[in-house]
Amino acid sequence: MIDNGKQDPIQQDRMNHARAEMLGRLRRRKHETALEREFYCSPEEYQVDLEMIWYRDWLFVGHDCEVLNPGDYLTVQIGEYPVVVVRDRSGGLNAFHNSCRHRGSRICSAERGSVTRLVCPYHQWTYHLDGRLFAARDMGTEFDKTQWGLHRVHCASVGGYVWVCLAKVAPDFEPIRKHIEPYFLPHKLHQTKIAFETTIVERANWKLVWENNRECYHCSANHPELIRTFPETPTVTGVEGAERNPLITAKWSHWEDLGLPSRFHLSDNGQYRTSRMPLVEGAVSFTMDGKAAVRRPLIDSIAEPDLGTLLLFHYPSTWNHVLADHAISFRLLPMSPTETLLTTKWLVHKDAVEGVDYDLKRMTEVWLATNEADRRVCQENQIGVNSPAYDPAPYSPVHEGGVIQFVDWYCTELEGRLAQDARSSGSRVD
Ligand code: FES
Ligand SMILES: [Fe+2]
Repeated sequence: MIDNGKQDPIQQDRMNHARAEMLGRLRRRKHETALEREFYCSPEEYQVDLEMIWYRDWLFVGHDCEVLNPGDYLTVQIGEYPVVVVRDRSGGLNAFHNSCRHRGSRICSAERGSVTRLVCPYHQWTYHLDGRLFAARDMGTEFDKTQWGLHRVHCASVGGYVWVCLAKVAPDFEPIRKHIEPYFLPHKLHQTKIAFETTIVERANWKLVWENNRECYHCSANHPELIRTFPETPTVTGVEGAERNPLITAKWSHWEDLGLPSRFHLSDNGQYRTSRMPLVEGAVSFTMDGKAAVRRPLIDSIAEPDLGTLLLFHYPSTWNHVLADHAISFRLLPMSPTETLLTTKWLVHKDAVEGVDYDLKRMTEVWLATNEADRRVCQENQIGVNSPAYDPAPYSPVHEGGVIQFVDWYCTELEGRLAQDARSSGSRVD
């Protein structure tokens, strides 16, 4: 692993100032109220978000089924860091900084691919799939190949989802694995394929994208396609009340009898949540008519067509739906203070055949329309928040409990990490 964040002194000064300002505002903030403007548009505060959140936490980057065989790789750009995830010859997953040890060229530029070895396109330094340097032409007799392997990035996979962490010392992945695995393993997502994927740029700060995702206050006016099948009720979209809803608890008991963990479970620090939620009565999938989109279900051994939707969010990089017939993953990546990349993937059983078992348009139209509407509302939100006249108001206690929960997670983590860093660098924090 390498050290993050080497900066020149002037930049360092600006960043120290931004950290102190943010810490002050976090400490003064009104709970259950939207954040102040700078959190959403300041370049320095965006850089603090990268360093304190995105470069420290586990991030979902892709699926096991995308890197199934030795030599398969996928790439991802996390802030300033290009990263490559590659399956090695013994079946292990490795992640590396996608930056050649010779003069730094990016090695893999495609989003996905398959190689025998990783070959830098610039001067052809060649690396084993486990990152060791295999060959470097004409480097002289003193050159020691063993010293110039690729720098590693932490990597883990659970339930068909691949994660990386850029931190020098990563947070323990085991609590995440223990939480997610029982819910996701039965759906056999490692035995799927990507039927369709799309990447869009939302011209909005990554936190506005999350805030929009964590409530359905906006759904009736903006998502006519989605609300045909997805209940707008805050007990489904939010973070409390589901266990007091007898319709939901009856479904949970039924699904759990089938061997599918379903109950609402929020991690201790509020960073991730799993829960299986019923769709609108009579609907089994996110289609315009509510009927299944894929004839071949994800789980061969369970005939039940209505498994609701298994939800997972993990801040800051992903939210997910797993239905009986297909799964949809959403991956966020920050691009700038006011731009976020959203990649959506539709996964089906690996043997499902397009045109026979599923129709791509039927399967994707609801979420394509929903993503587009969300892109529009997030962009308009950003334009309004950019205004010096923007004045943060309270969130709706009825509909925006999920937003309050996200903002609390962000503020608590950021405040704790900023204070700890300030303490360890000897700066005053009060
Ligand atoms: S930069 Fe990669 S081989 Fe030269
Ligand atoms: Fe939405």
